[in-house]
Amino acid sequence: MAISGLKGRNLLSLRDFSGAEIQELLEKAEDLKSRAAQGQYVPALSGKNIALIFLKPSCRTRVSFVVASTQSGAHPEIFNREDIRFGIKESVRDIARVFGRVFDGVMFRGFEHATVAEFAQYAGVPVWNGLCDSYHPTQVLADLLTLRENFDDITGLPLTYVGDGRNNMAITLTVAAAKLGLDLRILAPEALQPDPDLIAEILDERESDQARVSVTTSAAEALAGSACVYGDVWVSMGEEDQTQERIDLLRDLKVTSELMDLTGRKDTIYLHCLPAFHLLDTETAIAHPDIREVDDEVFEGAQSRVFDQSENRMHTAKALMQLTIAG
Ligand code: CP
Ligand code: NVA
Repeated sequence: MAISGLKGRNLLSLRDFSGAEIQELLEKAEDLKSRAAQGQYVPALSGKNIALIFLKPSCRTRVSFVVASTQSGAHPEIFNREDIRFGIKESVRDIARVFGRVFDGVMFRGFEHATVAEFAQYAGVPVWNGLCDSYHPTQVLADLLTLRENFDDITGLPLTYVGDGRNNMAITLTVAAAKLGLDLRILAPEALQPDPDLIAEILDERESDQARVSVTTSAAEALAGSACVYGDVWVSMGEEDQTQERIDLLRDLKVTSELMDLTGRKDTIYLHCLPAFHLLDTETAIAHPDIREVDDEVFEGAQSRVFDQSENRMHTAKALMQLTIAG
């Protein structure tokens, strides 16, 4: 381990870290996770203060960063949009400079990528992107840890993302494929396929000969031999006005047992960043019964690792904060 040049660094996108730095962080997360299982916590951030800014709602990101902070000896403080009147009364750069003077690190969840980038430019302390419209790097660190827990070697691992191929998850998985050499297949209808120039630009940064990214409308092609089927909601935060349009575009790509069987493998796992629509027990799912992107049978089934993945948000957040603040 310990090549650590991560001290003082931001994580605005996985493109900010090299493949070796991502591996180092994952190894650190594995170490912290096994220590925590024995009740041992590493107080590497003793006396530090962490700000968590949410311009969009959150469950997992919030609980992960709160518990990762306290288990590292730091104090986390949460700010919602209204608390700091972000971009309403005060500019991004002024708020960033205030936060940079008093906090040791900031997790930022917002809308445009440019906003988190501007915040980081002015804060002068490590800033971690807790999701924006373009990327979700702290989620994909947890996804990679979960893949490592399930497969001996993830280099060249075939992974199929199913859904909106242009969204923050699909693009961040593309970066992970380029950095670590995954064989990513994006299964999406034509209207929801990623910009080919962006995929080419990310692949130009590839650090492994085994990095592959393909985009297709063919489930059979995308799933053949795949070790992991990855799901996300069809309507990302901030796009709620496009709900019916998305359902109409994606209803044929709901993840069912039949779709999982197209991998032809018994050891394929199912991942989902969550939240997921798999039951009719939420207000949104009751209003839009066809919005469910995964059958409950798959979500709750033996191949699903979604709650390991969710837990891994906390272990990877802890490694990220410790390495970027303390080194
Ligand atoms: N996966 C994820 O980021 O979940 P939250 O939106 O609940 O934080
Ligand atoms: N694509 C989803 C991810 C949620 C974790 C969204 O942006 O809402």
